[in-house]
Amino acid sequence: MDSLIEHTDRAARGAAIRRDPRGLAISAGADSAILAVEQAIESMLSYFGDPLQALDQAIAADPGWVHPHTLKAAVLLTLAEYEPACEARECLDRAEGLARGANERERAHLVAARTVAQGDWERGCELWDAILVRWPLDSAALLFAHLFDFYRGDALNLRRRPQRVLPHWSRGLPLYGYVLGMQAFGLEESGQYGEAEETGRAALEVNRRDPWAVHAVAHVHEMQGRHAEGARWLGTRQADWAVDNGFAYHNWFHAALFQLENMDLAAALDTYDAHLADATDMALQRVDGTAVLWRLQLLGVDVDVRFERLAGYWRTEAPDAGFYAFNDLHALVAGIGAGSSPASAAGRERLLAALAEPSSAGASNQAMSAQVGLPLARAWLDYARGDWPSAAEGLFRVRDRAHAFGGSHAQRDILTQTLLDAAIRAGDRALATHVLNERCPAKASTPLTAYWRERIGALAAAQPGQ
Ligand SMILES: [Fe+2]
Repeated sequence: MDSLIEHTDRAARGAAIRRDPRGLAISAGADSAILAVEQAIESMLSYFGDPLQALDQAIAADPGWVHPHTLKAAVLLTLAEYEPACEARECLDRAEGLARGANERERAHLVAARTVAQGDWERGCELWDAILVRWPLDSAALLFAHLFDFYRGDALNLRRRPQRVLPHWSRGLPLYGYVLGMQAFGLEESGQYGEAEETGRAALEVNRRDPWAVHAVAHVHEMQGRHAEGARWLGTRQADWAVDNGFAYHNWFHAALFQLENMDLAAALDTYDAHLADATDMALQRVDGTAVLWRLQLLGVDVDVRFERLAGYWRTEAPDAGFYAFNDLHALVAGIGAGSSPASAAGRERLLAALAEPSSAGASNQAMSAQVGLPLARAWLDYARGDWPSAAEGLFRVRDRAHAFGGSHAQRDILTQTLLDAAIRAGDRALATHVLNERCPAKASTPLTAYWRERIGALAAAQPGQ
C-alpha cells in the first residue's frame, strides 16, 4: 500500500515547512488548520471537546492537508465498532487521494491507520511504533497505539510504549502530562502499582484535568483493594473528570466498582441510574453499563428491567456483531441478563454465530473471537441454562488467557466473579475457594470478598462430609 503513495515534500504545495508545537514537521498550508489539529489531539488525549469536530475544522481550513483526514480515521477506528470503522475507511480513501502532499511521518500514519482499518490491529500498533522510533514526540501515534494495546490486552506495550518515548519528552512540551498518564495506566496493567500511582499523580501535577491519569490511579486503588480511598479519589476530583467529558462514563464505572467492593449495592445502582443508564451510544459505554448490571445481578439485585432496556441498545446482528469479541461478549451478557424472551434467545444465537464466524472483522478479531470470545460466550450460555458445572469449567479454562481479547484487569474481573458464582451454585467448594484465594492478597478484608467467603462457608455447612 505504501508504494501506492507517491511522496513529495511540502514544497510541492508551494509553501515553507510548518511545525507542530512539539517541533514535528507538518505539511499543513494554514495556521488555523494546525491549531485545529492541535486542539483535536488534546481533545483525544483529554476526552474534553470533540476531536472529530476539530478535525473537520482543520479539513475545512486546509482541504489539501492529508493529516486531519488520517487522524479522523484513526479516531473513528478507536471506537472499535463496525459503523465508525466504515466511516474511517472513507476518510482514509480521501486521505490517500491527498497523499502526494504529505510528508514521510504523515504517510506513515496513513499506512498505520489503513492497516488497522483492514483488521490487523497488532501490525497497526507496530507501524505506529515505527513512527515513534523516529518521531518520539508524535503524541497521536502514541495514543492510537496505546488504545489498540488496550483493545488487544497487550499490557507489556501499554507500559513499554510510553516508556520508550518518555526520555524524549520534558515538562515544557505541550501534552507532556498525557504521556505520563498513559505511562501510569501501562504500569498499573503491568502490576507495578507503586510506580503507577506515583506516575499518575505526577501527570496530574502537570495537568489536573487529565481523566486518563485520574483513571490510572483509580485502577491502582481497585487492584489493591483500597476501595474507600478510591471512592474518595474519584469523589474529590470529580470536577476534573466528570463534567462534559467523553470518558466520564468509564470513571463512573470505576466509582460503581468501588461501591460494589464495599457491598454498597444501593449506591452502585444509583451510580448506574444516574451516570450509565443513558450512556448507550457507544459500545464502550454499553460494555461498562452491562458489566455493572451483571455484577449487581450476581449479588442478588433485581436489575431485569434495566437489563432489558440496555440489551435493546446492543446490536446483535452482523456486521455490527462480529466486529470486536469483547463487545460481542458484553452484548451477550446483557441479553442473558435481560431474561429469556424469544427476542433475547434469537439475539444470543446471532451473537454466538458472529463470534464463531466474525465476518466484519479482520485477522485480529478473528483470533480474539476464536481464542477467547467464543469459549467465554459458550460458558455464559451454560450459566444462563443453569448448567453451573459447565459454566464454571468453561470460565476457569478461558480466564487465564482472556487478556487476549482486551479490556483491563478490572473489567475482566467480571469473569472471576461469574466463575465464583457458578462454582458455588455447582456446589464446587474446592474450585470456589481456589479462585477466591486469588482475591485475598489484595482484597482479603473487603465486604465483597467477605460476601463470597460467606457463600462458600454456607456451602461447607451444607456439605459437612466434604
Ligand atoms: Fe478502567
